Amino acid sequence: QVFFKSIEDTAPDSPIKRHTKISVIGAGNVGMAIAQTILTQDLADELVLVDVNADKLRGEMLDLQHAAAFLPRTKIVADVDYNVTLGSDLCIVTAGARQIPGETRLNLLHRNVALFQLMIPPLAKYSPDTILLIVSNPVDILTYVAWKLSGFPSNRIIGSGTNLDSSRFRFLIADHLDVNAQDVQAYIVGEHGDSSVALWSSISVGGVPVLSFLKKQQIAYEKETLENIHKEVVNSAYEVISLKGYTSWAIGYSVASLAWTLLRDQRRIHPVSVLARGFYGIECGDVFLSLPTQLGRGGVIGVTNVHMNEEETERLQSSAKTISELISQLDL
Ligand code: NAI
Ligand code: LAC
Repeated sequence: QVFFKSIEDTAPDSPIKRHTKISVIGAGNVGMAIAQTILTQDLADELVLVDVNADKLRGEMLDLQHAAAFLPRTKIVADVDYNVTLGSDLCIVTAGARQIPGETRLNLLHRNVALFQLMIPPLAKYSPDTILLIVSNPVDILTYVAWKLSGFPSNRIIGSGTNLDSSRFRFLIADHLDVNAQDVQAYIVGEHGDSSVALWSSISVGGVPVLSFLKKQQIAYEKETLENIHKEVVNSAYEVISLKGYTSWAIGYSVASLAWTLLRDQRRIHPVSVLARGFYGIECGDVFLSLPTQLGRGGVIGVTNVHMNEEETERLQSSAKTISELISQLDL
């Protein structure tokens, strides 16, 4: 009553709408880019930060709290103890070693598997109904590791996968065609990494299949130009890491778009890392890689039957074998 005098005949507080809680594990470049975007886009009622570096963790929490006057009201907490994640609707895992310039994502595997063995069991214990969204690299294999360590059904284990690669792909195609990237529907599938696959045959711009769009607009192109665009996507991370030491902003927006689709039950289709066994002729065991997937409040709703030509299907199956061979060497 100090600040406000209730008006007459005030009904008791209406029951609080569902409280949405997101935990971000790893308060580094990527985790904080994701956290900042979650706040800006008003995706959660409560944002939790977890890290092993207590001072950095508290510093990041305070720095975000100090922006409260400019952001939708969100409770922000942080702790080194995983119990702070209790009852999370979504746990986003970004903790782990990152590439040094020139290093491949696959080279991070053993260091980050060891971290996952420490992180995933407590996350699953404190939030047995959560969706685990994996970002740490190599993301496809670590998504498989999170599936195994959590014991969750595969529909609640998702890797950010090629959602980021596809965004880079759409940007480059849009730049080439001088259109808006949001009007370019284009998928990169497979490994989030060097063996990713560009689905040229299903790209459309404003509903027009791109290859016929180019012909209609008499825009000169050769297959080589298209392949160069895909090569530029694969090289994107290496270039940015060589220039600024890491990547963060694009992955921040990419993961926030996944969080929005999941927590607001948007049922949108994203290229994300899912249990791919049995799709598109992938029969090399339990392997996670990116396929166009419909997502909603319960996680994975289904994998779409996007058109792939023979070459694209073969490349996808080869990408799956690359991941499967590394998974077979794991000792979980
Ligand atoms: P960073 O070094 O800035 O942050 C990693 C954080 O993890 C550090 O703050 C560290 O203290 C924390 N950490 C380490 N062990 C931990 C534990 N046991 N529990 C909680 N926190 C722990 O690295 P950055 O740049 O944020 O990258 C993080 C990961 O994300 C890397 O594996 C990187 O390759 C990956 N990544 C994935 C992308 C994707 O598209 N899937 C895109 C960009 C980065
Ligand atoms: C990227 C790397 C770091 O694609 O996974 O940004």
